[in-house]
Amino acid sequence: MPKPARHYVCQECGSVHPRWTGRCGSCEAWNSVIEESPEISAPNTRGGSEGRIIPFVPLSGTLDWSPRNASGITEFDRVLGGGLVPGSAILVGGDPGIGKSTVLLQVVAKLAEQVECVYVSGEEALDQVRMRAVRLGIEKAPARLAVATNVRDILASVDTHDAPQILVIDSIQTMYVDALGSAPGTVSQVRASAQELIRVAKKRGIVLLLVGHVTKEGTIAGPRVLEHMVDTVLYFEGERGHQFRILRSVKNRFGPTDEIGVFEMTERGLAEVTNPSSLFLGERRDDISGACVFGGMEGTRPLLVEIQALVAPSPFGTPRRAVIGWDSSRLAMVTAVLEARCGVSFANSDVFLNVAGGLKINEPAADLAVATALLSSFSGTPAPTDSVIFGEIGLSAEARAVSHTDARLKEAAKLGFGRAIIPSIGQSKIKSQPKLGLQIKGISNLQELVNMFKDDTNSGRRAM
Ligand code: TYD
Ligand code: MG
Repeated sequence: MPKPARHYVCQECGSVHPRWTGRCGSCEAWNSVIEESPEISAPNTRGGSEGRIIPFVPLSGTLDWSPRNASGITEFDRVLGGGLVPGSAILVGGDPGIGKSTVLLQVVAKLAEQVECVYVSGEEALDQVRMRAVRLGIEKAPARLAVATNVRDILASVDTHDAPQILVIDSIQTMYVDALGSAPGTVSQVRASAQELIRVAKKRGIVLLLVGHVTKEGTIAGPRVLEHMVDTVLYFEGERGHQFRILRSVKNRFGPTDEIGVFEMTERGLAEVTNPSSLFLGERRDDISGACVFGGMEGTRPLLVEIQALVAPSPFGTPRRAVIGWDSSRLAMVTAVLEARCGVSFANSDVFLNVAGGLKINEPAADLAVATALLSSFSGTPAPTDSVIFGEIGLSAEARAVSHTDARLKEAAKLGFGRAIIPSIGQSKIKSQPKLGLQIKGISNLQELVNMFKDDTNSGRRAM
C-alpha cells in the first residue's frame, strides 16, 4: 500500500503546504506549520462520475421556521438576537478561565426546564462539572451530562429520533475524529470534528454550542476555519483582574452582530448586569483632572464609561504612548489633530490612555471624550463635572456627528448627568431634548474644547 503523502498545515490559517516551512506563506505566521495526516476523503459511493441533478426551487415559499429557544438569561439571549435558533451552530470563544464553561452550564440549566439539553465535557470529569453545578446552585436542573471526546461516540448518541434540542460541546479542541491520525486540537481535527457535529445538528435541528479556546494571539485555535463554518460566533471577553465579563457577537446569521451582554463573575457564577453604565462609573470621582465620561454605544445599548488620560513630561527622547481599551492609532490621530490644528503639543510628553473598568471600546465617537481627557490632564483642570461627552473628530479638527445621539443622551439623563458636550452638527437631530432636562453644549471645532480648558488654566499646571 502506498504511504500517504506528508502534508503540512498552518495552525493559524489552515493553509496546506507541501513541505515544512518556518513561516506560513499565506498568513505569515512564524512556527505555525505542523505535520498532519492527510484528511480521508469520502469514497464515491454512488459510482460513476456524473453528479445527481439537484432541483431548483423558487425563492418564495412557505417557511418552516421553529421558534427560538430563549434561555431566560436576558443578556445571553439578546446577544443571540432573541434566543437560540434550532439547527444553528454557535461558537463561544474566549481565553481559558474566562467563564465559558460556567456561562454555558448556567444556560443549559435554564433551558433544561423547557427542552432536552445535553452537556458534553471533554475537559472536566463528571464530578468536576457536578461540583460546579452545586456551586452555581443549579444541580437540580434536569440537564444530562457526559464526558466524551470521540466525535463518533457523541454522534451515535445524539443522531437518533429523540435527539436533544441543545447540545453543548466543551471544548471543540478536545474532540477528535478517529479516522484522522492527527492529535486533538490540530486544525484538521478541529475542522473535521466541527463539520461532523454541525452536519448532524442541521439534520436533527439541534442547537449546537461549541466552546473554543482562544490562542494567545487572540484567535480561536484552528481559527478562521471554524468561524466560517458556524452560524454565530460569540466571544467572551474580560480582564482577569476585573469582575465583569462581556459576551460579544462578532458574527450572527440570525441576529445583530454588535450586541453585547454584560455579566459579573460572582461566587455563584455569572450574574447578569442589567445596568452596565452604573457598573462602569461606580468608582468615578469628579474632582480629578484627566478623566471624563464618554457616552458610548454597544450595539443597540448605550453605555457610559469613564475615559482616563495621563499626560506626563517624558524623560526620554521618544515619548511613550500607551493605550488600554481603545485603538492606539486613533489616539495618535487625536493627539496629531490637537498638535497640528489647535497648537497643543504633546511632543515632550508621555501619553497614557485607559478605559476604566477594563472595557474595550472601538467607536470613533470616543474621539471628543479622549481629547477632553487629554486636555484635562494636560492643563491640570478637571473636566466639566456632571457632563457626558461624545463625538467624532475629523482631521481638520471639526467635530462630526455620531449615530444614536438620543439614546446616548437618554442614558446620561437616566444616570443623573446634567450636561452633555456633543458635536453641534448633531444637535439638530435630537428629538427628545426638552424631556431630558439636559443642558447641551454643541461643539463644532476641537478648538472650542481647547478654549474651554484655556479659560481656566490660571489655576492649572501648564499654559496651552
Ligand atoms: P470557567 O467557566 O471554567 O472558564 P473556561 O471554561 O472559559 O475556561 O471559569 C473558571 C473561572 O471562573 C475560575 O477562574 C473560577 C471562576 N468562577 C467564579 O469566580 N465563580 C464561580 O461560581 C465559578 C463556577 C467560577
Ligand atoms: Mg472550560
